Amino acid sequence: MIRWFKLVVFMACLAPLARLGWKAYEQRLGANPIEVITHSTGDWTLIFLLVTLSITPLRKLTGQLWLIRFRRMFGLFAFFYVVLHFLTYIWLDKFFDFHAMLADIARRRFITVGFTGFVLLIPLAFTSTSGWIRRLGGRRWQAIHRLIYFSATAGVIHYWWLVKADIRKPREYAVVLGALLAYRIAVWAKPKLTAGAPFPPFRKERERVGQPAPEG
Ligand code: HEM
Repeated sequence: MIRWFKLVVFMACLAPLARLGWKAYEQRLGANPIEVITHSTGDWTLIFLLVTLSITPLRKLTGQLWLIRFRRMFGLFAFFYVVLHFLTYIWLDKFFDFHAMLADIARRRFITVGFTGFVLLIPLAFTSTSGWIRRLGGRRWQAIHRLIYFSATAGVIHYWWLVKADIRKPREYAVVLGALLAYRIAVWAKPKLTAGAPFPPFRKERERVGQPAPEG
C-alpha cells in the first residue's frame, strides 16, 4: 500500500517539471522562457525544502509515523529542482561562462546567498542513503543534515533580496520557515528549561520532612 502511495507521491513531485516541459513543447512559456523556468524551479526548490522540514513536526504532532518515509524523497526533490534551477542559470542564462558566473556570485548578493544554499544541499543529497547513515553514525549524519536549516534560510534570503518591490511571496515563505525553525528551537530548549524547574528544591523539602521523592 505504502509503495503505491510512494509512487503516486513521486509522480506528483515530478508534475511541476512535466508542466514546464509541456508548456515549453507547446511554446507557451511566454516572451522570456528562461525567466519562467528559473522562477518555477526556484519556487519548487523552496517548496520542497519547506515540505521536507514540515515532516518531523507533522509526524510528532499527529502521531503519523509513516510520514517519515517520505522525508528523504522530498529532500531529494528539493535537490533535484535546485540542480535544474542552477542548470537553467549556468546553461541558458550564462551559456557555461564560468567566469561570468563567478563574477556574478561575487558581485550580486542574492546570487551569493542562493549559491551558498545550493552548495549546502550537496552533502545532504550525497549522504541521504541508509548506507551513509550507517557509515557516518546517527549523530554525525544528523549534524550534517541540519545543514538543511541553513540552506532553506539562504533560499528565503535569496528570494527576498532578488524581488524588487513586492515582498509578499518571500515573506510568506519566511513566515512558514520561521514557524518550522521555531518548532525545532522549542523542542531543543524544552529539556533545558524543565531541567531548571523548581523540582530539586521540592525534593529537598520532601527529604527534610521524610517523604520520598516521586520516581522519574
Ligand atoms: C537553495 C537554493 C536556492 C533556492 C531555494 C532558490 C530559490 C529561488 C526562488 C524562490 C526564486 C524566485 C522565484 C519566483 O520569482 O517565483 C529564485 C530566482 C532566481 N534564482 Fe534561485 N534559488 C536557489 C539557488 C540559486 C542559485 C545557486 C542560483 C544561481 C547561481 C540562483 C539563481 C536565481 C536567479 C538568476 C533567479 C531569478 C532572478 C530574477 O528574476 O531576477 N538561485 N530562486
